Amino acid sequence: MTQPAAPADSAPLVALSRLRAPLWLGRHVLPNRVFAAPMAGVTDRPYRRLARQLGAGYCVSEMITARPELRDSLKTARRANHDGEAAPIAVQIVGTDPEQIAHAAAYNLERGAHIIDINMGCPAKKVCNRWAGSALMQDEDLAARLVEAAVAAARPFGAPVTLKMRAGWCAAARNAPRIARLAEAAGAAMIVVHGRTREQGYGGQAEYDTLAEVKRSVSIPVVANGDIDSPQKAAAVLQATGADAVMIGRAAMGRPWLFGQIAAFLERGVLLPDPPPEDWRDWLFAHLDDHYALYGEAAGVRTARKHVGWYVANLPGGAAFRQHFNTLQTAAEQLTALRRLLCGALPSLPLPLAAA
Ligand SMILES: Cc1cc2nc3c(=O)[nH]c(=O)nc-3n(C[C@H](O)[C@H](O)[C@H](O)COP(=O)(O)O)c2cc1C
Repeated sequence: MTQPAAPADSAPLVALSRLRAPLWLGRHVLPNRVFAAPMAGVTDRPYRRLARQLGAGYCVSEMITARPELRDSLKTARRANHDGEAAPIAVQIVGTDPEQIAHAAAYNLERGAHIIDINMGCPAKKVCNRWAGSALMQDEDLAARLVEAAVAAARPFGAPVTLKMRAGWCAAARNAPRIARLAEAAGAAMIVVHGRTREQGYGGQAEYDTLAEVKRSVSIPVVANGDIDSPQKAAAVLQATGADAVMIGRAAMGRPWLFGQIAAFLERGVLLPDPPPEDWRDWLFAHLDDHYALYGEAAGVRTARKHVGWYVANLPGGAAFRQHFNTLQTAAEQLTALRRLLCGALPSLPLPLAAA
């Protein structure tokens, strides 16, 4: 089984009734079992706040390095910014040295984090060349020691430690079930598995057999991740794997209401339509306000481009607009262009927000 068949519309209510019980993570009860995946450069504080508002039950920060010399860099400080975020606040740490991981865990817990997630899934060369991210899956002993170190550091705070990994390093080494058992023994409270190997990068398709095996291997909650892009797919993956929750990454870029749509389907069997344009227009403007506030105008204008590109991708004229938008140099120009687009492309909308 690689791609599970979508269940009939009424199936999730019956087959997934096991998921109605609340999911606890340490002392935190999560509002639902639809999680936002950490994505460096995407799931920053403005994105996470919107995702939570629109139905994600849980969000994890972009990965933060465990290296202390980078702690005060602007990039790390922005990634560690959780102002206005709903609890629980989960910070993902990437590193290779148990002592550094322990220090980074304590450092972030002292500054407001409630949960520490360890990244063993990132395939990026920058990360893997330092033997971090998914490269750690090649060294099961070190992987276990990192979890142990984080758990020991988090214990005085009463904070859970979770682990995010891939199915394995390569097709011949799908060792996620073994690492999951080691992590559970080391005290991990939850495991997220992306159903691709490191070798696959983001190519090919995620498979879910390994996730099902991970679920059978441990008694802590297991979260299924990889290519889940609709309510029906979420239900099918949960059914096929027995997982306790789903985590959504790329499918929610520019479509953050997907979390609420999936949650409604899993909980009530309801397929919600996409929100009316006036709703998502307001969400987009709120997202950008928060975005410029976090990054400042110069960096904010540059980094807003990708988010806006995803939002407008399916609008009439969206591609041409994106090209034009990418040339704009100020927040005021960006907002004005968006107001013009949303008026032109969505003529049924009431008047746009006040001109900048
Ligand atoms: C742009 C981008 C950045 C990512 N950054 C992280 C990261 O910081 N930490 C992490 O554990 N995974 C990261 N991932 C992996 C995602 O969390 C997720 O596992 C992967 O995208 C598969 O889920 P999806 O098919 O729902 O997108 C990233 C993925 C993308 C596309």
